Amino acid sequence: METYSQHHLPLILLHLIFIPIIFTACGASPLSTFRAYVADPDAVADDVHRSIENSTAHAAMRRRYLGEKNKSCLTGNPIDDCWRCDPHWEKNRKRLADCAIGFGKLARGGVDGEIYVVTTSEDSDDYRNPEPGTLRYAAMSKKPLWIIFARNMKFRLKRHILLESFKTIDGRGHHIEFDGGKCIASRFATNIIIHGLVIHNCEQRIMDGDGIQIFRGTHIWIDHNTLWNCSDGLIDVTFGSTPITISNNHLTRHNKVMLLGHNDNFRLDKKMQVTIAFNHFGEGLIQRMPRCRNGYFHVVNNDYTRWGLYAIGGSAAPTINCRGNRFTAPDYRFHKEATKRPFVKMSEWKHWNWRSVGDEFLNGAFFTPSGSQTYLGHYEKAWSTNAKPASWVASITADAGVLKCDKNSHC
Ligand SMILES: *[C@@H]1O[C@H](CO)[C@@H](O)[C@H](O)[C@H]1NC(C)=O
Ligand SMILES: *[C@@H]1O[C@H](CO)[C@@H](O)[C@H](O)[C@H]1NC(C)=O
Ligand SMILES: *[C@@H]1O[C@H](CO)[C@@H](O)[C@H](O)[C@H]1NC(C)=O
Repeated sequence: METYSQHHLPLILLHLIFIPIIFTACGASPLSTFRAYVADPDAVADDVHRSIENSTAHAAMRRRYLGEKNKSCLTGNPIDDCWRCDPHWEKNRKRLADCAIGFGKLARGGVDGEIYVVTTSEDSDDYRNPEPGTLRYAAMSKKPLWIIFARNMKFRLKRHILLESFKTIDGRGHHIEFDGGKCIASRFATNIIIHGLVIHNCEQRIMDGDGIQIFRGTHIWIDHNTLWNCSDGLIDVTFGSTPITISNNHLTRHNKVMLLGHNDNFRLDKKMQVTIAFNHFGEGLIQRMPRCRNGYFHVVNNDYTRWGLYAIGGSAAPTINCRGNRFTAPDYRFHKEATKRPFVKMSEWKHWNWRSVGDEFLNGAFFTPSGSQTYLGHYEKAWSTNAKPASWVASITADAGVLKCDKNSHC
């Protein structure tokens, strides 16, 4: 969903009429956004750089001394290196909750609850009273839950799985696929972790056809999923959702990939803070990787493979802090620019802070920075990520998307 149009009439109604009612009725006032918002986003970005620096240094050292054998835990990817070296990951699943970096770092998911095993891919017709054993039952529980699966499962749903607060969906160890129908959404929820799902061909019926939709969420982490070809966005984060980390995902074959903020005039999105790290924006993507509005976006060590129109777009004066990404432009000579400020005059966007540090540009790709030339996050003066950042992108993103994890061995 992006702009208001006839096509989106139901959404207009939702915005104008229902949102204030929902805010009031659920007690979900914009306050939760203000509480979750981080006052010093540059400090969070700096913390991410430090953890990458630390992990790549360890990885380089261990490669030198131990050889390349243990590849899955020698990547220099600080999220993966936090848990993937453990051959008993299956017994220590909740360890994952300590491994996020960036704005979504504090997302607890269901770490304080029980492990819940989904035993069937059937969905309940009565979606308000789902059967125990279904994913819907677990997702709607009022208790914190760490949700795992008994076997490989394929879902084709008539309604979104609506995740309530304090849930982890952990697909590790099985092939968990959402193929067609409706997919995953979370509205007015907090502390969500989504890890290890294959999501594709999600369909639009009345409202939205996103792969993963986060609407007014706080403390969200979306890690190691594989997504392609949905009828709306692959990952959409809107309505004052913050703080968020979107990491290690593999995205392909899609037009409008990732929307962060739905409307220029939605002021609460000024508080949106998102870390986009170690994702592989792969083959067949056209635009919005991501498309940002209003907030602060830290885009670090992602691999961009030949977009169709552009990679990173923004409007409504977002801050874009780009570090150590690899941008490979498409061959078409008029689409080499990685950045895009659609429908905005230069006199306006020249003040927006868009900066690129340590990015690598291939096949003629380029980034158009803006904002004060002298603007650098205040921490950067004391701390510089001088170490060959983009050169690590290939190994850091090599396992983007769903991982193949077997019990009793490295994942
Ligand atoms: C640095 O990396 C090592 C190995 O990956 C890890 O054990 C340690 O906790 C990290 N330290 C920090 C401060 O991130
Ligand atoms: C991986 O490395 C660890 C030490 O970091 C070692 O204990 C383990 O045996 C290695 N596993 C394999 C499969 O090489
Ligand atoms: C993409 O997904 C839509 C449903 O959203 C489906 O109708 C279409 O066939 C899919 N396209 C491909 C190429 O798989």
